[in-house]
Amino acid sequence: MSYLDMPLGEIATQVPGATAILFKHNINFCDDGELALKTIIKIKALNADDIVPTIEALATRSGATEDWSKVNNKKLIAHILTRYHQVHSEQLTELIRLADCVESKHGSNQLCPNKLAKLLVVVKQELEEHMQKEKTALFPMLSKAHSPLLSGPINVMTTDHKHHIENLDRIYALTNNYLLPSEACNTWRALYLGLNEFIGDVHKLIHIENNILFARSLKKDVVARGGSGYESSRY
Ligand SMILES: [Fe+2]
Repeated sequence: MSYLDMPLGEIATQVPGATAILFKHNINFCDDGELALKTIIKIKALNADDIVPTIEALATRSGATEDWSKVNNKKLIAHILTRYHQVHSEQLTELIRLADCVESKHGSNQLCPNKLAKLLVVVKQELEEHMQKEKTALFPMLSKAHSPLLSGPINVMTTDHKHHIENLDRIYALTNNYLLPSEACNTWRALYLGLNEFIGDVHKLIHIENNILFARSLKKDVVARGGSGYESSRY
């Protein structure tokens, strides 16, 4: 089925991040969830080409499968910056907006993830500081053919990663592992869908960095220092 024929509620609760596009065009997917996208486009005199291609791109964002262990550092870093760093900021901006909306409308519901928006603001700030350190300091060094020994800065980044995982565990706890009441609105459902995508992406990124990008450099360190091997950490 084309996205044009899909009800707004289905798009919002099946395509992670699609709510940001709908919100940008002032489309109320929560109250008008039954309306097809093409209907609301007609009512509001919008241009489908401004909306549908973006939703299609979001729907396939998580599906890419490439063996990143076979890609050189330069290409891998370019992938990390565009597929994860840039996307994390967009995801968190929208998740904070959705969490704010859910808390303000459903704060008295016993399953409402109260204080989630506040936690996500902290997560965004800490993640963006971390990504900035990688982008400006560590990644340029890792892109060089003959990089210096980097175990010190890499250890700082992997410690940050452990902290990020702890933050994700706090999100699971606040949302009762994404437990929705049967009466949950489309905004609440879209929030948990987006959180699920975001958390999956953070895990994938940390795996790529710790177990591929950083592991390569640490192995070089061990060789340079006359060591015998490197044990990769889980995260
Ligand atoms: Fe990182």
